[in-house]
This record gives sequence, C-alpha cells and structure tokens, in this order.
Amino acid sequence: MKYTVVLPAAGSGKRMKADRNKLLLELSGKPIFIYTLEVFDRDPDCEGMWLAVKEDERELIEKYVEHYGIKKVKGYAAGGAERQDSVRAGLEMARQSEVVLVHDAARPFISPAVIRELVERANESGAAIAGVPVKDTIKKVREGVITETVDRAELWMIQTPQAFRYKLLMEAAQRAQADGFLGTDEAMLVERTGHPVQIVESTYENVKMTTPDDLIYGKAILESRLQEE
Ligand code: CTP
Ligand code: MG
Repeated sequence: MKYTVVLPAAGSGKRMKADRNKLLLELSGKPIFIYTLEVFDRDPDCEGMWLAVKEDERELIEKYVEHYGIKKVKGYAAGGAERQDSVRAGLEMARQSEVVLVHDAARPFISPAVIRELVERANESGAAIAGVPVKDTIKKVREGVITETVDRAELWMIQTPQAFRYKLLMEAAQRAQADGFLGTDEAMLVERTGHPVQIVESTYENVKMTTPDDLIYGKAILESRLQEE
C-alpha cells in the first residue's frame, strides 16, 4: 500500500541544549534527520516526502539531502511557530496523497514493519498511530503529593508516525485551525472530530531525540544494529 509522508523538521531543539537545531547534530557522523529520511527513501511503498523546515535552514538541509543521495523529497514547506503549523504547511503540499503519514524528523529509529502496519490500518479505518505500552507506574501529583495512581494497563506512550486518510486529516487540521485548537499530536485533531483513531504497537527504540541522554541511547541503537548486520 502506497503512502506519502510529511516530516516536521522546523523546531529549534531547545531541550537538547545544543548550538543548533538538534536534527543537524550527528550520530556516528551523520545528521539525525538523514537517518529518518533514509528509512522512507528505502521503502518502496513511500511515494514522496515533504519536509517542513525553517527558512534560514532550508539551504543547509537541501544540501544534506543531496549529499546523502536522498531521492524522494518532493518539496519543502515553511515551518511555523508550533509543530502543528509546520505539519499543516507540509500537508498543504502533499495534496495528491491517499494515505499520508506524519513523522517527526527527530525519530530516526522507526521500524519499516510498523510503517507498513500503520499504512494498512489507516487505509482501512482512516486513522492509526504508533505507540508503546507505558513501562513505569504513573501517578498524578499535585503540589508534591500523589492524588491518584493511574491504571497502567490503559496507558500508552504515543509516538509518530501517525497515519491518516489524507482528506480526514486535512479536514481535522483545518477545523483545529478555525477553532484555534492546538494539539500535541495529529491524532488529537482527529479525535475531536469523533473519528476513532487506532493504535499500532511500535518499538521502544522509536524514541524522539529530545534531550542529551537520548543521543547516548541513539548511538547505542546504531551500534547494536551494526553488530547485527
Ligand atoms: N517541529 C517543527 N516545527 C515546530 C516545532 C517542532 O517542525 N515549530 C518539529 C521538530 O523539528 C521535530 C518534531 O517537530 O522534528 C518534534 O518536535 P520536538 O521534538 O519538540 O522538537 P523541537 O521543538 O525542535 O525541540 P524542543 O521542543 O526541545 O525545542
Ligand atoms: Mg518542541
């Protein structure tokens, strides 16, 4: 089943505390976002990628894309102040898509098998997102005191990719825009339309490179993959 993908890459990576956009930081000599693009470039079902980038980083990002021989980037959208704005700009460019994935450029370790499952489920039901069961006990805390222990069996940590029939997501995104609603992921925009969103069990390796310790984990994942080859 064919699909396209929109990759928000226009953040600044404040929590990474680096001197530039964290996506440009290298893991074993290659920028983080290039690993992400390679997964889709190598997937025969991926028909094209659109990247949302900051205007002043566009040239540099294009250079990297060319240097690493990434073939499927169809265009660059102007990133916005919030991730949701960047994604909407990317979606505007991906208009011909049937099924579209939104995937954080900062998640380089996504599994191709999970992508395949997401695309199939989104095609059938309209919306499917990646996640993993919560491992730790989660409690609600108010002013330093526990108010509740939440039943872990029902809790999932949500990742990207998030996959949708294009029309469903676009309409949800436009409705959110009109309502001034800001969500932290695409599923939230679809959830509020009442359309059910399915979850596909992903892998714990599909972490988002967010804080400096994630880079240590990222390097370890790359090393273990090299040993498996
Ligand atoms: N992103 C984007 N446009 C924004 C904000 C974020 O395209 N206005 C992208 C990031 O580049 C990243 C993805 O959305 O690939 C997930 O966001 P996050 O991990 O929060 O990245 P940053 O916003 O860059 O990091 P931070 O929140 O620590 O500043
Ligand atoms: Mg952010």
